[in-house]
Amino acid sequence: MFWLFALPLLIADVQVAGVNTGLKVQVTQKGLEYGGQFVVELLKSVLMKEKIQDINGSYQVPLVGNAQYSVWGLHVSQIQEHNSTVGFAEGTGVSLGIRDAQVLLKGHWRLTTSLGSDSGTADIRIRQLFLSTVLGVDRGSGGRLRVWCAGCHSAIGDLDLTFYGGSSWLYNLFASSFKGSLQSEVNKQLCPELRKGIDDLARVLRTANVSAKMDSFAEMDYSVVNKPVISADQFNMDLKGQFFRVGQPHTSPLVPAPFLLPDQPGSMLLLGISEFFANSAALVYFTSGALRVNYTDKTIPKSIPFRLNTKSLGLFLPELKQQFPDMAMEIHITARKQPLLNFHPGGVDAAVFGAAEAFVVLPSARLASVFLLNIDANLTGQVLLEPVKSGKSIGRVGGSVALKRFRLSQDRSSIGEIKVKFLEKVLYVALQLASSRVNKRLKKGVALPNIYNATLVNPQVAMYQGFMLIATDLHYHPQVAA
Ligand SMILES: *[C@@H]1O[C@H](CO)[C@@H](O)[C@H](O)[C@H]1NC(C)=O
Ligand SMILES: *[C@@H]1O[C@H](CO)[C@@H](O)[C@H](O)[C@H]1NC(C)=O
Ligand SMILES: *[C@@H]1O[C@H](CO)[C@@H](O)[C@H](O)[C@H]1NC(C)=O
Ligand SMILES: *[C@@H]1O[C@H](CO)[C@@H](O)[C@H](O)[C@H]1NC(C)=O
Ligand SMILES: *[C@@H]1O[C@H](CO)[C@@H](O)[C@H](O)[C@H]1NC(C)=O
Ligand SMILES: *[C@@H]1O[C@H](CO)[C@@H](O)[C@H](O)[C@H]1NC(C)=O
Repeated sequence: MFWLFALPLLIADVQVAGVNTGLKVQVTQKGLEYGGQFVVELLKSVLMKEKIQDINGSYQVPLVGNAQYSVWGLHVSQIQEHNSTVGFAEGTGVSLGIRDAQVLLKGHWRLTTSLGSDSGTADIRIRQLFLSTVLGVDRGSGGRLRVWCAGCHSAIGDLDLTFYGGSSWLYNLFASSFKGSLQSEVNKQLCPELRKGIDDLARVLRTANVSAKMDSFAEMDYSVVNKPVISADQFNMDLKGQFFRVGQPHTSPLVPAPFLLPDQPGSMLLLGISEFFANSAALVYFTSGALRVNYTDKTIPKSIPFRLNTKSLGLFLPELKQQFPDMAMEIHITARKQPLLNFHPGGVDAAVFGAAEAFVVLPSARLASVFLLNIDANLTGQVLLEPVKSGKSIGRVGGSVALKRFRLSQDRSSIGEIKVKFLEKVLYVALQLASSRVNKRLKKGVALPNIYNATLVNPQVAMYQGFMLIATDLHYHPQVAA
């Protein structure tokens, strides 16, 4: 009996644990209110593109008799709204309400009676337009976002019709007689038009990319992993946030640890970046062989007196000088294992496991391996995010790094035992010097490209156990050249 009860719990647990999440995105009420302005603008532009169907009919004109009228080429020329609301529709998506909007429609008219035909232009002024709609948001196929129109209601409170041209003064007298039919005709077309606009958006999303190629080694999968959780004041979405080798199947031995974003309603947007996200990148660069570098004498700046040859290195390794007098050298540094990154409240810790193989360049230009050292280092760092003034970039990311531990050990040597402790001390000092140069560059940071015409406002980075939180406001520039 116990198992009957335990089984569903067990299955539910497995499903939760099976969700691979490297990134979490949250839009707060504040973010929705800001973004809502642009949603209303978007909706207006959808309605402005609307081509209202022609309206034909007939009615009795006193003294003249039966009149056939036709209003065609109607389009929305102006929308004024001051009382729009945007909110989260719990469990569904986003709701939008437009109250008391004024809409001006322009078009042409033609009237045919027994006396002949007459034509001109016409204005339809909608005084009170009410429109409410719910945009459903869910995870669609392939981890893409799926949107649909989950409800729409429209009403027109009052409407005015004015004819211009021809004998319009005459028809204006009777305009009110077909106001009613026009009102319901226009109203009938509002929700279908809106649905068409949402369908267009849905079509774009259905074919959207869910991974981005970072370089020739790595691509990042940012597909949506489960149904977005929409509450009364938050929209939460889990993205895979994992790196893979370009063109390889999306499988990985890494398993993400669950994490929860803290409440921060004062920011529009929260982004949680997990340790898993960073470690999946480290694994990809390691397995694709990107973590290796060769040093030859040419790659060492001329200003540095220490040269990469047996004469210079011979100061520390006398046997090297004896066996290979006056020869050029190369040092090949590779990662032995994937680097490990650890996010915690104090910052980011990294452990790197390298190997340095030293070669002598023989007169025949062949390389002779002389020794192999293992290098183990622990680094600790901070991440900084800064707003930028120019619209070309969304923001600038930088940081700082410090060396915490540095160990050398001899793996093999053909020139006798290497005094690794001594070499370690020399290199530690050299690395400390180098790190101040690296930090100067890191502090300047790099500008992230601006693809959505938005810039970060008041961004903050906070470190937690297992993840990094970026909380920020955004400023969107709809027309600023990127
Ligand atoms: C309305 O009448 C015009 C002629 O006045 C005609 O060309 C048009 O096709 C008609 N449209 C509809 C929807 O009946
Ligand atoms: C907007 O509509 C709400 C509800 O009808 C009303 O309370 C509020 O006063 C309106 N605001 C404006 C600026 O018209
Ligand atoms: C999707 O990715 C492909 C391949 O990386 C790229 O060629 C294409 O431009 C991307 N499409 C969009 C809409 O970003
Ligand atoms: C380093 O040199 C080795 C041997 O010459 C070569 O196989 C390797 O591709 C080089 N690596 C880089 C990153 O240049
Ligand atoms: C260095 O990193 C390794 C691997 O993460 C860790 O076990 C060790 O405690 C670290 N040592 C220091 C001094 O931070
Ligand atoms: C960004 O701005 C450019 C230039 O004004 C515009 O062409 C593009 O559509 C905008 N993109 C978005 C996502 O608003």
